[in-house]
Amino acid sequence: MDRIKYIEKWRMFKLDTQHSSYICALVDEPAYLAQIYYGRRISDDDVRSLASIGDWGGVPSSNPRDKLTFTDSYPFEYPVSGCGDFRETALRVRTESGHAACELFYSGHRIEEGKPSLEGLPATFGDNAQTLIITLKDPLIGLEAELYYSVFEDSDALIRSVKLVNGGKDALYLERALSVAFEIRRTDAELLTLNGAWARERHIQRNPVAYGYQGVFSRRGESSHQHNPFIAVLSGDCRQEQGEAYGLSLCYSGNFRAGVFKDPFERIRVMAGIDPEDFCWKLEPGDHFTCPEAALVYSAQGLGGMSRTYHDLYRDHLIRSAWKDRLRPILINNWEATYFDFDSEKLLAIAKEAAKSGIEMLVMDDGWFGNRYDDNRALGDWQVNEEKLKGGLKKLVDGVNALGLKFGIWFEPEMVSPDSELYRAHPDWAIAVPGRKAGLGRNQYVLDLTRPEVSEHVFRCLTEVLDSANIEYVKWDMNRPLSDLGSLELPPERMGEFSHRYMLAVYALQEKLIKRYPELLLENCSGGGGRFDAGMLYYSPQIWCSDDTDAIERLAIQEGTALVYPLSCMGAHVSDCPNHITGRSTPFETRGQVALAGTFGYELDITRIPAEDRARIPGQVELYKKYHMLIAQGDYYRLESYGENGAVDAWMVVSRDKSEALVSFLQVKNVPNKYWMGLKLAGLDPERLYRWEEGEAHGDSLMYAGLMIHYMPGDFRGKLIHLTT
Ligand code: GLA
Repeated sequence: MDRIKYIEKWRMFKLDTQHSSYICALVDEPAYLAQIYYGRRISDDDVRSLASIGDWGGVPSSNPRDKLTFTDSYPFEYPVSGCGDFRETALRVRTESGHAACELFYSGHRIEEGKPSLEGLPATFGDNAQTLIITLKDPLIGLEAELYYSVFEDSDALIRSVKLVNGGKDALYLERALSVAFEIRRTDAELLTLNGAWARERHIQRNPVAYGYQGVFSRRGESSHQHNPFIAVLSGDCRQEQGEAYGLSLCYSGNFRAGVFKDPFERIRVMAGIDPEDFCWKLEPGDHFTCPEAALVYSAQGLGGMSRTYHDLYRDHLIRSAWKDRLRPILINNWEATYFDFDSEKLLAIAKEAAKSGIEMLVMDDGWFGNRYDDNRALGDWQVNEEKLKGGLKKLVDGVNALGLKFGIWFEPEMVSPDSELYRAHPDWAIAVPGRKAGLGRNQYVLDLTRPEVSEHVFRCLTEVLDSANIEYVKWDMNRPLSDLGSLELPPERMGEFSHRYMLAVYALQEKLIKRYPELLLENCSGGGGRFDAGMLYYSPQIWCSDDTDAIERLAIQEGTALVYPLSCMGAHVSDCPNHITGRSTPFETRGQVALAGTFGYELDITRIPAEDRARIPGQVELYKKYHMLIAQGDYYRLESYGENGAVDAWMVVSRDKSEALVSFLQVKNVPNKYWMGLKLAGLDPERLYRWEEGEAHGDSLMYAGLMIHYMPGDFRGKLIHLTT
């Protein structure tokens, strides 16, 4: 593999993915590292002409009287605060003397085969990779920044991370340590972000990139419902399958910051990493700090090209679970069916009815432990409530298994209710600032998992339950953000490390869990989709997408989610109507069709829904079995966005060999006096003949002229079209 080169003559590094090139260069002596180019692949390695792109106005060695002009405009590869870069920077380091000035010069590089893992952090993996490590150093304070760049042979992504090493004699304080920075130079750029709130996560938003800083962040200790750790910078003409897109996805689930800074010269610095607001990391001499990894994707095929690269990258190089390529069991979850009001009898009745319809797993949600009769108490008391589960958990699980269903269980391991045995025994285990009453969220506190005795206790509780019965699935929930940050064991000068240490502790716990139970199907969740990020995908092959199960609300949520994350990881369930969140009623078939876009399941009381709905479940189960592997493994194309057109939603998946495709069309609103539309398909083989239930046509006519779809009477009407060759 020869994807990374150091071209000595021009002092340039050139990294090639299948369709993109990334170039940086050494300039001046001592040498600064500049970012020269990122975009469509350049086949020629003689890239010396690009050296002028930066227009650096004279390097310091030849123009020392104007060094600040240089530092204020130079496209630093890893920009640092304090020595004249007045823009938004990636690194800020304070010394024991209180100064926050740092300047990084090239000190060496190496190119290695393979892709290194990241200590304690989620990271992409794979053998077919090459990695460039460029070391920069501040000679005065001894800080070293090792910049990591990896490319996989089969991917268009560029993976980056940074390791900061204190090679000096005194302690250093990292006040800001972002994972990545790169520059884009164009005047028509737009910034795409995924935003929302609980029950309406990851709605797509696009804004022109204006002068100054623009971006998103989370300071909630989780990646958040409000903003996703993903941004893209687009050309103004970027659409689904045209134009240019630069994606930046951070593989991290805690506080983050991702944004762009446009300087007076129309250069756009794109950056992402841990949010500096609640961050300060002390590095003793010899210590190092590893920044989370970021995946950059350049696409010349619009948003669709970018999404497909991320889907492949995360499916092939990030998700590890034994379940990643397996057909996941169709589950039925009792949350919307019963909330806290259930017992073994009710669950067995649901399981019995579910088994008749072909459902394969019962998931017992919140409310099975301690004194948990509502959401005001008992988190932390992970002992089975035998008033609800008479005869204990094993009896229930055996009963469910005897009906032919697997059994799954809900936990919220990171939390404690003030009204719980655990809190009464260990009030100091909750995160709080001494002397200040910590704020409650859903009447619960967060456990200080950075303390080994706390995380060991939590792990013991989990394993005691999991070892007590045949439990094959865990839903790991997290229902409030972190606030009032304080940990009893951290010294004052390390208190700023808390949020990141918390995230590392969550990762370590999940790692321990999946190592101990390699066959366990783990689904992450955070009040719906508050921790839907690449970091979590390293531990669980699926994540609950949103507490909003309304089929129409789900369109925008799932469209935004699928922009980056593979369909195989998107938890999507059919629920009862009127929907518990919106009060909206949609046809049962439509709810099924929308849920088919992800890891399919039910979230309803199957014993009480209308008989005609129940009768439709076996048909939906069949559809799932027939199409899910195509959906989970195929290439995804977004055809129509309801958010943009106000009437219809459509997407499709095409098998790798283009022999098969599935189109999902949803008419949200009937369009009067229009009768039909030509839905332009994508990703097909233009020359092949495709057949579907009502006709046949060649790929080119389906893509260029479109597939004729007749509008159906009424609203919320769906149609699935299966194309075969
Ligand atoms: C969160 C989850 C729900 C459900 C409840 C239980 O809101 O997203 O699916 O598990 O918690 O309290």
